[in-house]
Amino acid sequence: MNEQPNTFDPASLASDYLGEAATLLAHDDPFPGGAVVPPIYQTSLFTFANYADMADTFAGRRKQPIYSRGDNPTVMEFEARVAALEGAEAARGFSSGMAAISATVLAFVGAGERMVAVRNCYGDAYRLFERLFPRLHIKVDYVDGSDPEAVAAALPGAKLLYLESPTSMMFELQDLEHLTRLTKEQGIVTTIDNSWATPVFQKPISHGVDLVLHSASKYLSGHSDTVAGVVAGSAAHIKHINEQTYSQLGGKLSPFEGWLLLRGLRTLPLRLPHHMKSGLVLAERLKAHGQVERVNHPAYSNHPGKKTLAGYAGLFSFEVTEDVDIPAFIDALKFFRIGVSWGGHESLVVPAKASLEQTPGINSMARFGVSPRTIRFNVGLENVEDLWADIAQAFDRSKK
Ligand SMILES: Cc1ncc(COP(=O)(O)O)c(C=O)c1O
Repeated sequence: MNEQPNTFDPASLASDYLGEAATLLAHDDPFPGGAVVPPIYQTSLFTFANYADMADTFAGRRKQPIYSRGDNPTVMEFEARVAALEGAEAARGFSSGMAAISATVLAFVGAGERMVAVRNCYGDAYRLFERLFPRLHIKVDYVDGSDPEAVAAALPGAKLLYLESPTSMMFELQDLEHLTRLTKEQGIVTTIDNSWATPVFQKPISHGVDLVLHSASKYLSGHSDTVAGVVAGSAAHIKHINEQTYSQLGGKLSPFEGWLLLRGLRTLPLRLPHHMKSGLVLAERLKAHGQVERVNHPAYSNHPGKKTLAGYAGLFSFEVTEDVDIPAFIDALKFFRIGVSWGGHESLVVPAKASLEQTPGINSMARFGVSPRTIRFNVGLENVEDLWADIAQAFDRSKK
């Protein structure tokens, strides 16, 4: 019990993860009228001054938004910001992370084709692959992404490799540089769900990944007031998504949500280090706690996938011992509200069992060996000592 190595020194945690992201997010060229914040272009369409402008725009000789299901200036501000943060040429906003995931994957994989996905990927991505994709005759093979040999064995003939590093329940890492060397050799598109690390802590494109996906509902928003998604990558890949699925599936981001995201993004480089520090403090204390079997936090991993992480988000899980009454533990917590999302200001708790067993018949938990004694914490921006006191009293009150 509790024999995981301590691979970081909390005292040495650097405070400056901001780098170029801070200036990128805080500094804007003035918007119309000298405004420091962009307007919300709450309009469905954009008219043309004359016939020639219309004809040139439709023919691609002139740039102007036409209709907000395609382009909207407020949303384009958000897209440009995410592209810059991820070191990508372009980005596309969506109405949810799942809209971004489905439109991206379906743009590159078609009927009769196959893709490879990491096991324990986000539950609704898994359910998309398991429910809709068989009806479209798309085959998905799941692999332990932390094992490059398992990935290598599954890749030949696949169109797409779907990564999530770390995964958001078990926090399994993947070696992005190793895996993208394999996919590049075979012309396979690599996507990653980077919602956990955000571009502040991991820039997958600089490690060979083609397309970076986000549930922008999480840290990019940071305030639990938005459901949104985004994908970033090369101009050619984003153009392909635009042409194949984006406009036709219609899962566009609304101008108001785009504006909220721009607001949330400005403090992303400030919030993340706070989530990281509080998360590590709680992970350390949980690891030393007698009622905790193990802590699933990338800080405690020796996997090479760790080398592309510049820091750790505040979401991690842990397994409690048999003598913890899990429902009583969760109900005893006062500062951790019970809920499935994460990345916002507020601390949250969810048992893996409830989160992963939502779909009878598609039980990724049993399939991929997630212990039913796993509990996930989203560590918010509250005072970490208040959070720890809360956890300690909940353990005391839930001992069988
Ligand atoms: C890791 C991960 N990816 C993707 C999603 C889906 O994003 P959304 O809820 O914005 O559709 C979620 C949502 O919880 C998630 O946790």
